[in-house]
Amino acid sequence: MNTLEKMGEFFNARLDGYEEHQMTTIDFADEFYPYTAECLPKEAGSRILDLGCGTGLELDRYFEIVPDAKVTGIDLAEDMLGILRKKYPDKDLRLIHASYFTEPFGENLFDAAVSVESLHHFTKEEKTPLYAKLSRALKDGGYFILTDYFALTEEEEKQRRTELLNLKKEQGLSDGEFYHYDTPLTAEHEMEALREAGFASVQVLKNWGATKTIKACKTDVCE
Ligand SMILES: C[S@@+](CC[C@H](N)C(=O)[O-])C[C@H]1O[C@@H](n2cnc3c(N)ncnc32)[C@H](O)[C@@H]1O
Repeated sequence: MNTLEKMGEFFNARLDGYEEHQMTTIDFADEFYPYTAECLPKEAGSRILDLGCGTGLELDRYFEIVPDAKVTGIDLAEDMLGILRKKYPDKDLRLIHASYFTEPFGENLFDAAVSVESLHHFTKEEKTPLYAKLSRALKDGGYFILTDYFALTEEEEKQRRTELLNLKKEQGLSDGEFYHYDTPLTAEHEMEALREAGFASVQVLKNWGATKTIKACKTDVCE
């Protein structure tokens, strides 16, 4: 049986070799991590919010481009955050061990937000209020860069969600907890959630098969 593990515990238990695993087993990881970083603002001192930052693979290239960026990273896996802190002891990094669903982000604070390979575990109903909170946290002209993998069909989206619900039922697991099981939305549903949350313009910037980079601008005009 596929035994479900709590989200943070799943990643804490796979720290050894995590970055190598991401870079060698995910198609096009060598392209989409730097590409994502290059989509973020290039001005000195830019303020960035990273949802599910993990060990910060997307930040490696970003800190080369904007060495004095002020980054807030939120993650459920405390040990992943520990690695990120060790990688960048001298950077302006505020790391928060929490769920991005419950952590307040503040208002009009960030030039941009980013999330890579983290949001494919949640439903559209869970994400829409999260994206509304994210939109409020961005400055006018700010934007969100989402790089993740998406279901290629609605059937795939439904099937993965049904599998998760069945596994939770079989294992007697509660609804109030996040377990690690991939349930990607289609890119169309992801973009609907962003629009319904209030983002003014939402577009796919780049495709690598199932993996895509989506840009969502808070206001009509964004960089
Ligand atoms: C596959 S890792 C990606 C980490 C990093 N962005 C990267 O691409 O290497 C997914 C991360 O999302 C985090 N995560 C998942 N759900 C979360 C939530 N609700 N709140 C905060 N972090 C979450 C996990 O703990 C994990 O570190």
